[in-house]
Amino acid sequence: MTQTDRQGTEVIRGWLAQRCGIHFPEHKLDQLRQRLAKVQREFGVTDLSDMAGQLDLADATALQLAVMHAASTNHTYFFRESDVLDHFRDHILPDLANRDEIRIWSAACAAGDEAYTIAILIAETLGPAALKRTQILGTDISSPVIAEAEEGDYPLNRLDRIPAELLSRWFEPAGPGRKRVRRELRDVCTFRQMNLKTMPYPFKKSFQAVFCRNVLYYFEREDQVATLRALHDVTEQGGWLLTSVTENVREVCAPWKPVANGVFRKGGL
Ligand SMILES: C[S@@+](CC[C@H](N)C(=O)[O-])C[C@H]1O[C@@H](n2cnc3c(N)ncnc32)[C@H](O)[C@@H]1O
Repeated sequence: MTQTDRQGTEVIRGWLAQRCGIHFPEHKLDQLRQRLAKVQREFGVTDLSDMAGQLDLADATALQLAVMHAASTNHTYFFRESDVLDHFRDHILPDLANRDEIRIWSAACAAGDEAYTIAILIAETLGPAALKRTQILGTDISSPVIAEAEEGDYPLNRLDRIPAELLSRWFEPAGPGRKRVRRELRDVCTFRQMNLKTMPYPFKKSFQAVFCRNVLYYFEREDQVATLRALHDVTEQGGWLLTSVTENVREVCAPWKPVANGVFRKGGL
């Protein structure tokens, strides 16, 4: 590790915290350097100081996106954390059953597993016709995972938590060892690259429910508070926020009202 690499890492670490809310503690700096080494090769930059120097140049969008992708942990899977999903199915979906439009946001959606899980739950609970009035938006800071989500085509080992009956109903064969989410579900899910730290969020219509799971724990308290408020602003009165049960956001959740483990509501309903 050269002195210039060490200095470059510090600058990039600060940039990630400030621009993306992603914080790398001291003990994870080796992991950050390993991830950045790939970007260094890909972009042919001399060292991490060189990379840091290029990050804020006007034409550095591709490099910025690659650094954001390298720094983010995209681990996700279908039907993750069933307690929160059960709450969504049993207590939130009945409330949305008669709406003309169902609008859900999977904020920090990674490769789309969460957005498609939500679509399956809606189809299974409210009937497939409900998909016609459903819009699910999936966003993530990382462009490569957004491209994956748009394809909706996964290796079988990524699908092993999906009950067999649902797998055969909602996925179709897609070449050796792969399955693709059926068009009915892909049609209701739209994916976009978006940084949760860029506020206010640019939506014309509010969401009835926002899933923001397994991302807040990368953020410092201050960014968690700001993010939870910005999510609140784009959720309709009486709408819901679903977080991970492993993220302790209760202390910073105001103005959200906690209703169950990992579930919050807007307003005093
Ligand atoms: C561990 S995954 C969680 C995926 C999914 N929500 C779940 O619970 O399975 C975290 C995701 O957050 C994204 N992420 C990290 N910082 C972000 C930011 N500032 N804005 C938007 N997405 C971010 C990462 O790229 C990654 O895909």
